[in-house]
Amino acid sequence: MSHDLYELARQVGLEASAFVRTNRPSGRVDVAATKSSATDVVTELDRACERLIRERIFAARPDDGFIGEEGDDIVGTTGVDWVVDPIDGTVNFVHGIPSYAVSIAARRDGAVVAGHVVNIATGLEWGAVLGAGSWRHEGDQKVRLAAPQPPPLAQAIIATGFNYVPEIRARQSAAVAKLLPHIADIRRIGSAALELCALAEGQYDAYVEQGLHVWDRAAAGLVATEAGFIVTGLDGEPDERMVMAAHPDATAEYFDLVRACGF
Ligand code: IPD
Repeated sequence: MSHDLYELARQVGLEASAFVRTNRPSGRVDVAATKSSATDVVTELDRACERLIRERIFAARPDDGFIGEEGDDIVGTTGVDWVVDPIDGTVNFVHGIPSYAVSIAARRDGAVVAGHVVNIATGLEWGAVLGAGSWRHEGDQKVRLAAPQPPPLAQAIIATGFNYVPEIRARQSAAVAKLLPHIADIRRIGSAALELCALAEGQYDAYVEQGLHVWDRAAAGLVATEAGFIVTGLDGEPDERMVMAAHPDATAEYFDLVRACGF
């Protein structure tokens, strides 16, 4: 059944991605409103994309629940609910930086069982099913993802992201300043979903971000977990808003450093 949920997530994700790509005007996209701060923007296409995804999911599975970044919060009766970010990386989308994604996860009884992420600008897509691994789609093929052995900290690339609330950003930037002298480098794509997929690809060695929402990380968190990474809170316990992810052999060392830097 999780595979069926995955196929639906992928089918809807690809349609939503094509819809956004086709309708995105060239140049900058107008901001329709702001949310948690003046930096936290939303466009009409974020909203239209969430509507399209909701309609397609409910056409196939009318009794499921549905949570979306742009305000949907519908309780279902089947035990399955969908967690959707219609455009993760909205700031990139507005500016035309080609790193923004549709992210669709299916949960059963609260646990993510299937997830699909597609980079709208490039068409690259990733998927995972609980217990069945994670992959990048290449044409008709699925290229399996597997976490590489972690390097020593001095050679590690750690990805992160920044919350939209200025007070949280101030703390995050102070933590980054402390972390940087200990590692090879920091990366920040601007889409938590794409950052977790890049981790799953083995491009990064760890990922840390405080202040995420469930839709930012539900699908890509499963992609990283199924590739063999630990994705958890900073204290090693699941945490809805804080994500720390690294190879199991590196968590003690990486997590200790990140904690000591004040993330
Ligand atoms: C944001 C992106 C960003 C992360 C923020 C998220 P949005 O999602 O994933 O990389 O740093 O915490 O809120 O607003 O573009 O969907």
